[in-house]
Amino acid sequence: MDKRVHWHVLGAGAMGCLWAADLARAGHEVTLLLKPDHPAGTGSVMVEDGQSVQSSIIRTAHTSTQPIQHLLVCTKATDTVTAVTMHHASLTEDACVVLLQNGMGQHQQLAERFPGIRLYAALSTDGAWLKAPFHVVHAGHGLTRIGGYTRNATAIALLPALHALVLPIEWTDDIMPALWLKLAINCAINGLTALHDCLNGELLDDGPRQRTMQQLCEEVAAVMQATGIAVTTGDHLYQAAVETAQKTAENRSSTLQDFRAGRATEIPALNGYIVSAGERLGIATPANRDIVDRIMQRRPLPPSTA
Ligand code: PAF
Repeated sequence: MDKRVHWHVLGAGAMGCLWAADLARAGHEVTLLLKPDHPAGTGSVMVEDGQSVQSSIIRTAHTSTQPIQHLLVCTKATDTVTAVTMHHASLTEDACVVLLQNGMGQHQQLAERFPGIRLYAALSTDGAWLKAPFHVVHAGHGLTRIGGYTRNATAIALLPALHALVLPIEWTDDIMPALWLKLAINCAINGLTALHDCLNGELLDDGPRQRTMQQLCEEVAAVMQATGIAVTTGDHLYQAAVETAQKTAENRSSTLQDFRAGRATEIPALNGYIVSAGERLGIATPANRDIVDRIMQRRPLPPSTA
């Protein structure tokens, strides 16, 4: 049976390009949906991985001329609803929509806005950054976990369309604890790397940075415990953040890339989500609030001494 399908990928950042290239390499037809200010046509996406550079030919477009059956959303979390709304008219009735993003809140917003949508959540521990438009450096090898967010988002409806990928994927029946764990990791790493202008691994070179990571994780754990999502400790989340920082040591976090380029960051859907949840639940989250305030006001942290 020919399992090749037509994937539309929304978002031409590092993860969008990495996935578009991998889907094309696996034999799928791929259309990368671009913002109107990017020229569309046929182009190549380059993936640099250690010494090797691979190029995949894909189609780029502003809007889809065909019905969209498989949509992978790799935009910033904060742009999700606007971006999917732009292409919603092209989605088939039983389309699979996969959100592969950092952050929390956008899944719920989309499910509420489009009742009946077949929505999946995916999260990745890969480290990747854009060297130039459509040229991605795969700096850290991780795993992508995927699970259904809405009840109709079953494994059987999606997994055949993800066969033969090089990027390792794993189906997860209950994706929520994994989403929260990834949220904690991003809350501990992303804002700090931007404010210290450092690589992920450099967070571990210095005692005060590690203590801030630990405090950020303690606050996320307190919010998680209060929401009843999963029983976890700040220490467990911190260990997971340290492990990710080690595995992606040479990576520039997505927030650092955005912050350096003067773009909006995903911090509102990361630390900002924890601050809002904390307010609702009566839990103090000063370390996460400080990250949000500093990123919004573009106030880097002073250099620390270990
Ligand atoms: O946002 C990112 O950059 C990534 O989620 C991660 C895992 C922190 C690696 O840089």
